[in-house]
Amino acid sequence: MRVLSGIQPSGKLHIGNYFAMMKPAIQLQEEHEAYIFIANYHSQTTVRDPNVLRELTLDVALDFMACGLDPAQTVFYRQSDVPQVTELAWLLSIITPMGLLERCHAYKDKIAKGLPADHGLFAYPVLMAADILAVQSQLVPVGQDQKQHVEVTRDLALKFNANYGETFTIPESMIQSDVAVIPGVDGQKMSKSYDNTIEIFGSKKKIRKSIMRILTDSKTMDDPKDPDTCNVFALYKLFANQDECQGLADRYRSGGMGYGDAKKELWAKFESHFSPMRAKREDLQNNLDYVESVLSDGAERAKEKITPTLDSARIAMGLA
Ligand code: ADP
Ligand code: TRP
Repeated sequence: MRVLSGIQPSGKLHIGNYFAMMKPAIQLQEEHEAYIFIANYHSQTTVRDPNVLRELTLDVALDFMACGLDPAQTVFYRQSDVPQVTELAWLLSIITPMGLLERCHAYKDKIAKGLPADHGLFAYPVLMAADILAVQSQLVPVGQDQKQHVEVTRDLALKFNANYGETFTIPESMIQSDVAVIPGVDGQKMSKSYDNTIEIFGSKKKIRKSIMRILTDSKTMDDPKDPDTCNVFALYKLFANQDECQGLADRYRSGGMGYGDAKKELWAKFESHFSPMRAKREDLQNNLDYVESVLSDGAERAKEKITPTLDSARIAMGLA
């Protein structure tokens, strides 16, 4: 199978991004033809400072490589190094109904909040469709909130194929059902927009503090507690195996354990999971030429894959 996913460089990596999208996308590299890219054109819709955009783009490259992306197995590139994608976005925009984009949540949410929206944000799903269709991806691992965009991609691919002849593979989204929505420290969906994230590569002090401020109910130490409604337990489950989850759930139910203890266990799990990746990230940080060479090689490999598809679409539409 051919698999593609991307992430916007628009903030610091948090465990919502990692467990819902990054980890599943990286795991697929073992058995599939994998493409992962840094969606820096997409993040232009929110990040307007060029220096910040550059810095966040490098962060994503380091994050992915530190978390296990293997450039020998995965084609890893920066979206803006493959401008063929933007040409395909134009070709797709020709057949995109306005109504389809008006129903998309990012745009709708902004309008509902009374914020000014621009054409880039409105056309965002068309660019995402181009990312996916350009490499003829079959499977797209994303978090729940991106499912709608993959649906738009499918609609556009079906319409293009019907109008101009079979050109694009119809992709499917792949959602990790066990981690569909990861709660933040306040219990809402973890998101950098809500300032409720647990960062992965931030300072240890800050991360520990975020874990310690996870919202819980007001039960006392002795009270029996319900693991199924607890934000700390929901996050612990991401790291622990079944026996460990069962063990902690039993301690919740029998009482005598405070939420502070559960938070300490979560912090210990966090540390043992991410500290090897933290060390790898520091090595990469000291070897930026290598990181740059991975991205430029990835861009060349992506272009090789994309060019024949783009040529077919151009011919089908009468441009060549
Ligand atoms: P954020 O919401 O922090 O801005 P992004 O929108 O950049 O994060 O999300 C990047 C990827 O991570 C997407 O595939 C998204 O669905 C996934 N994701 C982000 N936060 C969560 C969460 N709390 N639960 C599940 N998936 C998430
Ligand atoms: N819109 C995605 C997000 O915010 C990022 C993205 C852009 C993407 N193009 C993509 C994800 C193509 C998967 C496939 O998370």
